[in-house]
Amino acid sequence: MNITLPVLQEKLKAWDGCALCKTANPVLGEGNANAKIMFIGEAPGQREDEQGRPFVGPAGKFLNELLESIELRREDVYISNVVKYRPPENRDPTDEEKEQCMPWLKMEIAILKPKVIVPLGRHALGHFFPKLGMTQAHGKPQKLKDIAIFPIYHPAAALHNGSFRQALYDDFAALKAFLDAAA
Ligand code: URA
Repeated sequence: MNITLPVLQEKLKAWDGCALCKTANPVLGEGNANAKIMFIGEAPGQREDEQGRPFVGPAGKFLNELLESIELRREDVYISNVVKYRPPENRDPTDEEKEQCMPWLKMEIAILKPKVIVPLGRHALGHFFPKLGMTQAHGKPQKLKDIAIFPIYHPAAALHNGSFRQALYDDFAALKAFLDAAA
């Protein structure tokens, strides 16, 4: 793909193709344009909407800790979302909203060409494997053409329910072992 991430960013700013564009600010992914690993969340929250950057609120703080736990920094990876605009009151994005935003995620993936994609939570997992549930799938790599898909619970799950915290650390440790073995 000839288009670059900064150009995609400008195109997203000029886009008005979904209902959420009227109530929220665009939030494209960010990170290392040469990253081999891409993390995909659900949709921006309040902080992300205010700053125009993904994962900068409480869930993002925990994501940073999880990355550090496996010696990765945000600058080493690329982080994005299924939906590029904050749904009102942080409600779940609808199927229609996910569908409308899908071309942006597809373009990010086409530009980045990651070797490993980590869907964070069920909305991102559903983009790749609509029939797969997170409870069975988390922490185990799947193959999708030449990309490894490594599903992990959404970091916000641990903010709402502490019992997810250890599962997230364990899945990040499993991700590190997978990346080390693949290197
Ligand atoms: N939750 C997400 O899924 N994405 C963000 O960018 C922030 C919180």
